[in-house]
Amino acid sequence: MSSRPSPEELCRLLGLSLPIIQAPMAGVQGHELAAAASRAGALGSLPSATFSAEVLEAELQALTAALDTRGRGQGTAQPWALNFFCHRPADAQALQAEAAWCKAVAPWARQAGLPAPAPAGAARAPFSAALADLIEPFRPPVVSFHFGLPAPDLLSRVKAWGTKVLSSATTVEEAVWLEANGADAVIAQGWEAGGHRGHFLKPDLDLSGQAGLFALLPRIVAAVRIPVIAAGAIVDAASVRAALALGAAGVQAGTAFLCCPEARTSAVHRGALAGALPGVETDTAVTAAFTGRPARALVNRWVRESAAVQAHIPPFPLAAGALAGLRQAAEAAGRGDFSPLWAGQNTRSCRTLPAAEVVRELAGGLNPSSTSRSLEPCA
Ligand SMILES: Cc1cc2nc3c(=O)[nH]c(=O)nc-3n(C[C@H](O)[C@H](O)[C@H](O)COP(=O)(O)O)c2cc1C
Repeated sequence: MSSRPSPEELCRLLGLSLPIIQAPMAGVQGHELAAAASRAGALGSLPSATFSAEVLEAELQALTAALDTRGRGQGTAQPWALNFFCHRPADAQALQAEAAWCKAVAPWARQAGLPAPAPAGAARAPFSAALADLIEPFRPPVVSFHFGLPAPDLLSRVKAWGTKVLSSATTVEEAVWLEANGADAVIAQGWEAGGHRGHFLKPDLDLSGQAGLFALLPRIVAAVRIPVIAAGAIVDAASVRAALALGAAGVQAGTAFLCCPEARTSAVHRGALAGALPGVETDTAVTAAFTGRPARALVNRWVRESAAVQAHIPPFPLAAGALAGLRQAAEAAGRGDFSPLWAGQNTRSCRTLPAAEVVRELAGGLNPSSTSRSLEPCA
């Protein structure tokens, strides 16, 4: 008999009414989506990796104010999560690689009539003591990390607040490592998932070790004792039901929330998800050519053409700076040729629905006798 943690145990651990997490999605959301998901009974997540300290503080104020149903500013009734990256900061060698990358990208800039790209340095900082100082007064109920966990002293500090800690695993080995190193629950990130792969035990993505959720989830469930949260193509009641049948204690969904009115997803990104943007496919691919780390995005011009400069991609997150001008110019013309249009494999799920309705649809899968069908595609 398996003693795997149940959805009820995950809810108790995180203080939730539903074992559903709205995935943190840097670049396409702020407090509005997190608040709406938390108010609907899920765990709303605020992606914090790309915010400056000032913006993060303002987002935190807005999120906690939106969720403070007691109105006294003394903590929130609904749990919520912050999300940070744990990548290795760029060193001198990485900065040199960025300069070479700028040269490799220059022909595209020239063709677009733009100045040659110049090194911009890292815009995404890993979780640090300074960030811990900033968030400590807010006592986040949950912090999720991507790319592993912070150093043990920093992790202990976060856990000492009573904060529960989650992190993503893309392999069984990573899940076992996360459990051994202090995670309270692990997110099994299937190959289908949108955005960055959370892999961290090896610097490069070992493709032979990356599995779809149906293969990854039951193997992680068998290997760890902490609750396992399924991520990747969780888009509707049917996929939630499948994840629970495979042993998940909960689910984390990102792509399904991308077209919610509460998300800050750009018009170009929304158009691409609807299949209405010239030059962008609704199929996705994993590429490191936008940031330096492999991530799943809709196939656009840069995904196709960057194959030619693959050898020059600098370490994360330094690839992004050289593309900023190209991206801005294309988006101003209503095109997504150079934008990182992050999305999971199941883009059919993107509907312009309030986050509460997406949560309600997902929650339909928590009841084994429910017969709720898959979402219909956009009209
Ligand atoms: C637009 C987008 C941005 C993302 N950004 C983050 C992020 O900042 N931090 C993180 O931990 N995961 C991020 N992810 C990955 C999600 O946590 C999750 O693994 C993924 O959304 C699950 O697959 P799905 O998109 O098919 O639901 C992102 C995903 C998407 C689609």
